[in-house]
Amino acid sequence: MTYSTNGETSLLTLDDYHIGFKTERGLAKAVDGVSLTLNRGQTLGIVGESGSGKTVLNRGVMGLLAASNTVESGSAKFEGEELVGKNRQLFWGTKMAMIFQDPMTSLNPVMKVGNQVMEPLRQHKGLSKSAAKERVAEIFTLVGIPEPIKRLNQYPHELSGGMRQRVMISIALAIEPDLLIADEPTTSLDVTVQKYILDLLTRIQKERGMSMVLITHDLGVARGRADEILVMYGGRVMEHAPTEKLFENMSHPYTAALFASIPHLHHEKHTRLTPISGTPPDIVEPPTGCRFAPRCTYAQEQCLVESPPMTQDGDHRFACHFPVGTPQGQEALTKNQQRGKTASGLQIRKKAEVI
Ligand SMILES: Nc1ncnc2c1ncn2[C@@H]1O[C@H](COP(=O)(O)OP(=O)(O)O)[C@@H](O)[C@H]1O
Ligand code: SF4
Ligand SMILES: [Mg+2]
Repeated sequence: MTYSTNGETSLLTLDDYHIGFKTERGLAKAVDGVSLTLNRGQTLGIVGESGSGKTVLNRGVMGLLAASNTVESGSAKFEGEELVGKNRQLFWGTKMAMIFQDPMTSLNPVMKVGNQVMEPLRQHKGLSKSAAKERVAEIFTLVGIPEPIKRLNQYPHELSGGMRQRVMISIALAIEPDLLIADEPTTSLDVTVQKYILDLLTRIQKERGMSMVLITHDLGVARGRADEILVMYGGRVMEHAPTEKLFENMSHPYTAALFASIPHLHHEKHTRLTPISGTPPDIVEPPTGCRFAPRCTYAQEQCLVESPPMTQDGDHRFACHFPVGTPQGQEALTKNQQRGKTASGLQIRKKAEVI
């Protein structure tokens, strides 16, 4: 089964993909049956609050999780080749690369940054030392590192956060990957640098025809940069659609709640943010029924007992019994507003008080 939002060739296909961690309390199901297809040259935004399973999903695909306490199952195929059960080191240097939120944890603190970018070029591309050096200077220029030759001889601690992230991007780009996974690449940076780095990644992705997974907790970051957006919660897919369609026809209450919790630059009058109250579910013993039910303003009795199946509406899919914008959804919300609480006991404002 494929979940492609258009008919192009797929690069990465996950089918009922699971990752669990063995803990003293039992298996922590961080990724619990995710299916998706990423096509060549496309950018997929993966969005969800902290703890949704975004990082584990992607580190799992990359084969970067410790095998000793990780249980991986289902299928993850790259160019049709099954990754589950295989050592993926061969892919890192050639096909897939990942950049992380905090470049300090992935850069080697005692190695000059130039050497860190040269290493993959020499190892995987077989370049001579001088050719690699020349190539690194080119890449540094491409990612906006000024005085590239001087920077080659500096150590990570001598660079600002923004420059370190550009070095990480350089390492990832050096191997010319088919797939670049950017895991909250700008969260630790200030706003102007964030925009620069995100625009840079988007530009390079387009120029190179690379596929990209852009992981972010901020729906606003994915908007305008991702071709499609997949919303995750408690290790599961809540909603997935081409970006425009998602914003036009938001169907899952969790997506709507995420949307209400971000600043809307386009609607200055609605700058008041509504944070999602409560915390993500326990992934060792997740609630029966819908995982979002304890925090969902639409929740009905059915949601507490029955896990919502995935509804597929063309290239838009969502898992909810009472979708936003449907008569059932409106009825559920009105019922809760009238009783002042949801089926799971969440207190909400009574209808008269709702603005
Ligand atoms: N090594 C681990 N052992 C047990 N649980 C883990 C481990 N790594 C991550 N988790 C749990 O998996 C869930 C998903 O984490 P993560 O993928 O980092 O979330 P996100 O990237 O969406 O913020 C969290 O509940 C986290 O605590
Ligand atoms: S309405 Fe029910 S199924 Fe839909 S998100 Fe809320 S709790 Fe889950
Ligand atoms: Mg993360």
